[in-house]
Amino acid sequence: MIQEHCRIQSVEEIAPNIFELSFVSQAISAQVLPGQFVNIRVEDSLLPLLRRPFSLFSVDAPVVSIIFNAIGIGTKLLSQKKPGGTLDIIGPLGNGVFPLDDEGFATALLVAGGLGVASFPFLTSRLSETRNILTFVGARTTSNVIRIGLKNIQIATDDGSEGFHGTVVELFKAFINEQSVPTPRIYSCGPMPMMRAVAQIAKEKNIPCYVALECEMACGIGLCQGCPVESTMDDKKYNLVCKDGPVFEARKVNF
Ligand SMILES: Cc1cc2nc3c(=O)[nH]c(=O)nc-3n(C[C@H](O)[C@H](O)[C@H](O)COP(=O)(O)OP(=O)(O)OC[C@H]3O[C@@H](n4cnc5c(N)ncnc54)[C@H](O)[C@@H]3O)c2cc1C
Ligand code: FES
Repeated sequence: MIQEHCRIQSVEEIAPNIFELSFVSQAISAQVLPGQFVNIRVEDSLLPLLRRPFSLFSVDAPVVSIIFNAIGIGTKLLSQKKPGGTLDIIGPLGNGVFPLDDEGFATALLVAGGLGVASFPFLTSRLSETRNILTFVGARTTSNVIRIGLKNIQIATDDGSEGFHGTVVELFKAFINEQSVPTPRIYSCGPMPMMRAVAQIAKEKNIPCYVALECEMACGIGLCQGCPVESTMDDKKYNLVCKDGPVFEARKVNF
């Protein structure tokens, strides 16, 4: 884990109110694994007090980028940052990561809702070339669909402006019921109800499923106990999303 003042390289609005912020960090870019996150102090003042956690969207050493919706105080401040400025960043954080290169699966099924897609381009870039990758992306409307760095994308929009008219869960369920894919593994990130539904499909179909959980965090390093998620395993009552996750095998947590 590194704490650095990183130089901001660019801040761009890549879709309506969705920004990509890239910064330079040789150390973070060299160490980070898909599924890990960084914790950013968005301002040098006391407000907002807490750092904000973000997944890594792209890693092209020494440049790293995140994407975010400018929804609240922290993300609005980040969207106004200028190239050449610096940000106090801690990372890479998290010990639960997306499994990559173990044997036993040929098809990676990536299922994302909204900005849950943020961690998938980096994951896609690190999955072996020999894997078949199919990506299912859900968004409210076509202008919110993020496709950068993804492979074999199927899209669902709530308003029907592109692809399947409905949720990404409905799209994914129809696919998995109709198609037979060799030794699949599911990776999912997005709103909790969406990931629960994906995990349920995975359970019914007996497909290994990994979920990247998001919750409000304070310390981001396992000290404040502020991000518990119930464990379903006998050896442990709770996991911490920041320290034990943020990626978990879905059957091992009650989220
Ligand atoms: C491991 C991890 C990775 C993340 N990766 C990304 C990412 O790549 N891109 C991205 O846009 N966001 C990501 N998030 C969520 C991101 O941290 C929040 O969007 C951010 O903290 C909001 O800060 P804010 O100051 O703008 O919002 P605030 O002003 O703090 O809150 C605005 C509103 O958003 C809600 N909110 C805040 N944080 C979260 C959260 N984590 N989940 C759900 N609702 C929240 C608040 O309750 C409030 O209603 C991630 C969170 C975690 C834990
Ligand atoms: S955010 Fe402090 S323990 Fe997870």
